[in-house]
Amino acid sequence: MTLEQGFSPNLSSNNGLTRQLKRDKLRAVAVIGLGYWGPNWVRNLYQGHRVERLICCDLDANRRQHIERQYPAVETTDSLEKVLHDPEVEGVVVATPVSTHYSIARKALEAGKSVLVEKPLATSAREAAHLVQLARANNVVLMVGHTFEYSAPVMKIKELISSGELGEIFYISSVRANLGLFQRDVNVVWDLATHDVSIILMLLGQMPQAVGCHGQSHYANSVEDVALLALHFPNKLIAFIHVSWLDPNKIRRTTIVGSRKMLVYDDTAIQEKIRVYDKGVNVHRYYDTFGEFQYSYRYGDIYIPRLEETEPLKTESEHFVDCVLGLDEPRTDGLNGLRVVTVLEAANRSLRYGGKPVPVDDTYQVDGYETHSPTQILVYR
Ligand SMILES: NC(=O)c1ccc[n+]([C@@H]2O[C@H](COP(=O)([O-])OP(=O)(O)OC[C@H]3O[C@@H](n4cnc5c(N)ncnc54)[C@H](O)[C@@H]3O)[C@@H](O)[C@H]2O)c1
Repeated sequence: MTLEQGFSPNLSSNNGLTRQLKRDKLRAVAVIGLGYWGPNWVRNLYQGHRVERLICCDLDANRRQHIERQYPAVETTDSLEKVLHDPEVEGVVVATPVSTHYSIARKALEAGKSVLVEKPLATSAREAAHLVQLARANNVVLMVGHTFEYSAPVMKIKELISSGELGEIFYISSVRANLGLFQRDVNVVWDLATHDVSIILMLLGQMPQAVGCHGQSHYANSVEDVALLALHFPNKLIAFIHVSWLDPNKIRRTTIVGSRKMLVYDDTAIQEKIRVYDKGVNVHRYYDTFGEFQYSYRYGDIYIPRLEETEPLKTESEHFVDCVLGLDEPRTDGLNGLRVVTVLEAANRSLRYGGKPVPVDDTYQVDGYETHSPTQILVYR
């Protein structure tokens, strides 16, 4: 494989798909992993009525029985191999623990199935890039479950930033904290910060140049339960992400400060999740003394945009079905997953270096070939 064949910089976001299947239902979709999150996929696919056969796979008999009781019409199995050998299965949703994403997604792509992998896509950029490559080689869809990119508040914020309403973005500060759910196989960065990194990259449409991350583990050795990330972008733009499984309160709050306006997004609010503050700082030249400035502060109105809220996972699962049918192109495709994993990997490296900012890798290896980084293949709509 040459570099050009594998990862040319202008590869768009559709995994190179050329298939045109003009149906509105899939013959069969399988959900792998029926723990905490997988059943939400089962519910949405079941209620969406766009799948003729729904196959639910888990190694744990109790989890399969849980689904059988709720959805007597779905099929269940403990065998991934059986799922992958079923010629009717067109799409596979991987909702297993993070450390298993790569191996399960790889097998599914090699079997010629379109795949949605829950966040994060994989545990290294190398693995993520390999999945992107496999999807292209097999001409199938690869999507990643960055659910917040399908949520009404995040889409509204993207619209506000793109329209220039907030002005130049100075910084973003995000907190995602609660008590639990502790993961065994990945730390809090790979678990919770994935959401914030995906949201921030979507909102800003660019990759950070460097990432710093401090964290600490209090219960399991080397599995950090609290962390603070700093993403350094060009032009002094910075984003902070504080994530914790050890917080007395459930907090899901993002503050975005721009040169014209400021915005607070509280995802725990039942209503009025976004507030736009017409607040800011005006800088005046202080003419008595050359070179000095004085500041005045603007306290204007607060505006609450109206949001048409639907369950983000419903939008995402309908989109996955559309993409597998060839009716649409993935909004959160493999490259999107690769970009997020690249940032998480840099954060993890910084953690091991005691918080020192590390550059976001410019190149990495896929099957022995050096490829260009996701920064060079950014395609945002
Ligand atoms: N998008 C979101 O908002 C969101 C929210 C929560 C979790 N997630 C993601 O969903 C995934 C699952 O998380 P969870 O909290 O449900 O985990 P979980 O541990 O509760 O469930 C995982 C399930 O996978 C099963 N499993 C493991 N290996 C398997 C295999 N080889 N074949 C079949 N089944 C297997 C386990 O038996 C278990 O029932 C993770 O990737 C997580 O990051 C996404």
